Amino acid sequence: MATTINLDEHLLIGGSWIDATGGARFDVTDPATGNKVGSMPNGTEADVKAAIDAAAAALPGWRSTPAIQRARILRKAADLMRERAEEIATAMTSEQGKALAEAKGEVEYAASFFEWFAGEAERVYGEVVPPMNTNNRVLVLRQPVGVVAAITPWNFPAAMMTRKLGPAMAAGCTSVVKPASATPLTAALVLRCIEDAGAPAGVVNLVTSRDAGMVANTIFTDGRVKKISFTGSTEIGKDLIRASAEQVKRLSLELGGHAPYIIFDDADLDEAVEGLIASKYRNAGQTCVCANRAFVQRGVYDAFLAKLTAKVDAMKVGHGLAEGTVIGPLIDSRAVDKADEHVQDAVAKGAKLVTGGVRLTDGEFANGSFYAPTILDGVTKEMDIFYEETFGPVAGLTVFDTEDEVIELANDSIYGLASYFHTKDYARLMRVAERLEYGIVGANAGIISAANVPFGGVKQSGYGREGGSVGIDEYLDVKYVLMGGVGTV
Ligand code: SIN
Repeated sequence: MATTINLDEHLLIGGSWIDATGGARFDVTDPATGNKVGSMPNGTEADVKAAIDAAAAALPGWRSTPAIQRARILRKAADLMRERAEEIATAMTSEQGKALAEAKGEVEYAASFFEWFAGEAERVYGEVVPPMNTNNRVLVLRQPVGVVAAITPWNFPAAMMTRKLGPAMAAGCTSVVKPASATPLTAALVLRCIEDAGAPAGVVNLVTSRDAGMVANTIFTDGRVKKISFTGSTEIGKDLIRASAEQVKRLSLELGGHAPYIIFDDADLDEAVEGLIASKYRNAGQTCVCANRAFVQRGVYDAFLAKLTAKVDAMKVGHGLAEGTVIGPLIDSRAVDKADEHVQDAVAKGAKLVTGGVRLTDGEFANGSFYAPTILDGVTKEMDIFYEETFGPVAGLTVFDTEDEVIELANDSIYGLASYFHTKDYARLMRVAERLEYGIVGANAGIISAANVPFGGVKQSGYGREGGSVGIDEYLDVKYVLMGGVGTV
């Protein structure tokens, strides 16, 4: 097995890699073993303010840097991430737990945001609008919002950060990044790529701290920070909405999800099994777009369950750096508790445990936070798993009969991020895609994430879109200029 890292990183403020004011640090641990894999400075309010100072100071220079130059830096940063993929992925697996192959995939996914937004930087077009009065002229400008803050999660420590920094840098904004304290080392390595690609001092700044509330409060009360982009839970998202009211700050929120995964009778069953596995068990079930409810039409239910069970039983659980591992540890013991609570609740209310349903605690698993990949048969609305996000490797199956019935079941959620279904009937494909109340629909596809598509949700899954041609709009203000008295031609 490859060895975990041992890395002591620093804050990045105004182009300098420094310790926190006062010098305190916190440990970063491997969720598979509980061992220390590095440390980060425990940033203070003074450090957050210094990072905002640096971002504010860098703003005039960066927003007036030609877009083509900003694009070159982004492309170079993507190249450097690819060159350093082994190092970044090893750090990611060490602190986050996901299997190394997935971590390498995430580095590529993360780099693709820089590349995509390099292209978008060069296409921030305005408009010339025909005036109401022919004596006037009307221009529409799109300008960078200013200093932005990115608050990023532990489940995709590289990609969720580049999905925010890519468009911010492309638009001409400067940033303060606060990564999750469980996974700050990956963040530092990615920011080193940006710095080594030639980003001027202060364009991106990194603050780590165990005190997420203090960081958020400092950011939200500083008038120089014009926008915050957050990926995380709906609960915290609601707190941020409340905090944003005081200064009417712009927000983009990518919050919780509870994806339905529908398999119609006419689906290609092997493709559907692969799709559900990819969606459900990616990152050990710790994604916002994970299938959380699988609805299988009665005619194929038994066949689907048998095929799914065979594949899940073959999944190797282990340390993410060990050869052949598919399912790594969950991020911490609370995550294991949550998955287990959902399973126990479902079983107590009548679901059948097909496979898994246990904490793994023996031998190599003794000091980690492992949960066996699990399938529940016969999930109903009475069970917590039907409405609450599990964020673990637990698939719950429910049988259905008609299209109308399954649409109603699928839309019965406060969340509206991703949804999926499999059918070979193209009329149904269009109909169901239109009727699902979700920001993302995967039709005959279990993986829907990419840099070139607008990723985001409706309902309590948040607002704003990341990626795609609209992703950069979140970092731009629209200004219209009326030029009077120009005369007619
Ligand atoms: C997430 O879980 O928040 C994002 C997953 C993705 O980008 O695919």
